[in-house]
Amino acid sequence: MTWILFSFLFLWYMFVPFVLDLANAQRLKVGFYAKTCPQAETIVKKVIVQTLSKSPTLAAPFLRMHFHDCFVRGCDGSVLLNSSTNQNEKNAFPNLSLRGFQIIDIAKSALEKACPGVVSCADILALVATDVVATIKGPSWEVETGRRDGRISNITEALLNLVPPNANISTLKKDFQQSGLNVKDLVVLSGTQTPCNIWAKCKPGDLNTIVEMDPGSFKIFDEDYYTLVAKRRGLFQSDAALLDDTETKAYVKLQATTHGSTFFEDFGVSMVNMGRIGVLTGNVGEIRKQCSRVN
Ligand code: HEM
Repeated sequence: MTWILFSFLFLWYMFVPFVLDLANAQRLKVGFYAKTCPQAETIVKKVIVQTLSKSPTLAAPFLRMHFHDCFVRGCDGSVLLNSSTNQNEKNAFPNLSLRGFQIIDIAKSALEKACPGVVSCADILALVATDVVATIKGPSWEVETGRRDGRISNITEALLNLVPPNANISTLKKDFQQSGLNVKDLVVLSGTQTPCNIWAKCKPGDLNTIVEMDPGSFKIFDEDYYTLVAKRRGLFQSDAALLDDTETKAYVKLQATTHGSTFFEDFGVSMVNMGRIGVLTGNVGEIRKQCSRVN
């Protein structure tokens, strides 16, 4: 009996810390680079603030880049990889309009100079997303870091996982659910996506004409998207589809009628949720030296 008890205690003390360690290793955390590269977040922010002051229209593509990264194989920087055969995510139709890859490379070079081999490209995209939203006076949230980079980027996976703008509500819900996000995340994150609110102004009464804001003029993050969708004036079918579900419709109406009372707070929560999709942590994946190629 004593022998059994002794064996049990021995196994408990041997393996429980190991199991806990594994669980910890799989978690992202705020300030992951605090010891290994304390200046990481400042370096990325500096590059983004400088870039947006010269090219403000890059704000939208940067945020979209993080979304397109996370929805294909998780937030693992796979959207950044180049391929000699053009069979990578970048070449999938929804990604052809992404821009700003060279700026991500500039941020990565600056990080490699300061702390070689420490900060992942997947984390750069998450940090850039928060910097972009903060720069246009949107909400701020505590960004979790600790993602590692993947080694695979596949065009077919991007085509399958990035829903088209003519998607109906069940396709949208299914796509988000498959990525581990809920219906609220869907309606909240959609609040950024039409070029007709945050990123550019629509000519009043003419939603077919998107007028880019003057370079250098100020862009503001607000809830206008919901006001437009509530009036059935969203840009895409997928925007209008948000009125076809009780929960998403209620959210659209609430934000439209209360000047986006909870949008800012909700947005931060959903961005953190999105940033957790399928992440590689611990010893899985790698820290790329260059974001466009595997080591
Ligand atoms: C819910 C499903 C979604 C669909 C069907 C969708 C579809 C689209 C499409 C077709 C565009 C126009 C792209 C172009 O200019 O060629 C767009 C733009 C954009 N989307 Fe989405 N999107 C979705 C969700 C999201 C989410 C979750 C985010 C971010 C968290 C996002 C961020 C953006 C941004 C920022 C733009 C403007 C990009 C630019 O001006 O370059 N979208 N989206």
